Amino acid sequence: MADPWQECMDLCVEVTRRAGEMIREALQKDIDVMQKSSPVDLVTETDQKVEQLIISSIKEKYPTHSFIGEESVSAGAPSILTDSPTWIIDPIDGTTNFVHNFPFVSVSIGFTVKKEIQFGIVYSCIEDKMYTARKGKGAFCNGIPIKVSGQEDINQSLLLTEVGFKSDPEQFKIMLANIKTILTIPVHGIRSPGSAAINMCLVACGSADAYYHMGIHCWDMAGGAAVVTEAGGVIMDISGGPFDLMSRRLIVASSRAIAERLVKEIIEFDVGRDDAD
Ligand code: IPD
Repeated sequence: MADPWQECMDLCVEVTRRAGEMIREALQKDIDVMQKSSPVDLVTETDQKVEQLIISSIKEKYPTHSFIGEESVSAGAPSILTDSPTWIIDPIDGTTNFVHNFPFVSVSIGFTVKKEIQFGIVYSCIEDKMYTARKGKGAFCNGIPIKVSGQEDINQSLLLTEVGFKSDPEQFKIMLANIKTILTIPVHGIRSPGSAAINMCLVACGSADAYYHMGIHCWDMAGGAAVVTEAGGVIMDISGGPFDLMSRRLIVASSRAIAERLVKEIIEFDVGRDDAD
């Protein structure tokens, strides 16, 4: 039987590439930066224009599909995942990087049906790396198959997480304490590239062995979750339970051993849910 969602995926790759071109062009001009929830939560006109381009191009072909887009949610749209075919969009994942011309900036789109991710596309547009993954069919970067490192020994691992002060001093303290705990296991190192979607792709292609984060959103996770899963990675909740797209937290790793060790070491804090009222 023909793959029912392949046509959607093909359109997704095409639209994502156009979005990436728009971002690269915007980088040649002055960038007008606005604040969202805090002085470190940034948005630009390009985030909004890119999201409009993506949603209008997809709606033209699939008018009955649902959308959860970072900038639409910021403007008041609901962030509820239903059984309907749903496009989960981050027009610029790594907006702070974009503002500073730091070269990890991506367009990330995940597509769910009955709440299950069917495919994910992450376009690291400055590096010109197009990561694609269709459920059950593997993960690719620019058409070449990718897979996780398979590393099982945490002492030999390079880990990724993101650091940033987001207004709650208690959470900030726990975040720093977690980093200290992990560095003293010891591991080879911790890096913070600044785009959740690219972080997952770095684990997917074996450049890093794990990534953990509390406080991101479904649009940061959906595209990369498909890529890392299809590349043979392990994905779970920070508590060790099943990964939940709306939970705002995750661990991805090259092996179950590393993921489970991180579960043991990391102290959790409450970040709420994307689908909370
Ligand atoms: C951000 C990036 C970053 C993470 C932030 C996210 P955005 O996404 O993924 O790595 O630390 O929590 O908000 O806002 O640039 O789409």
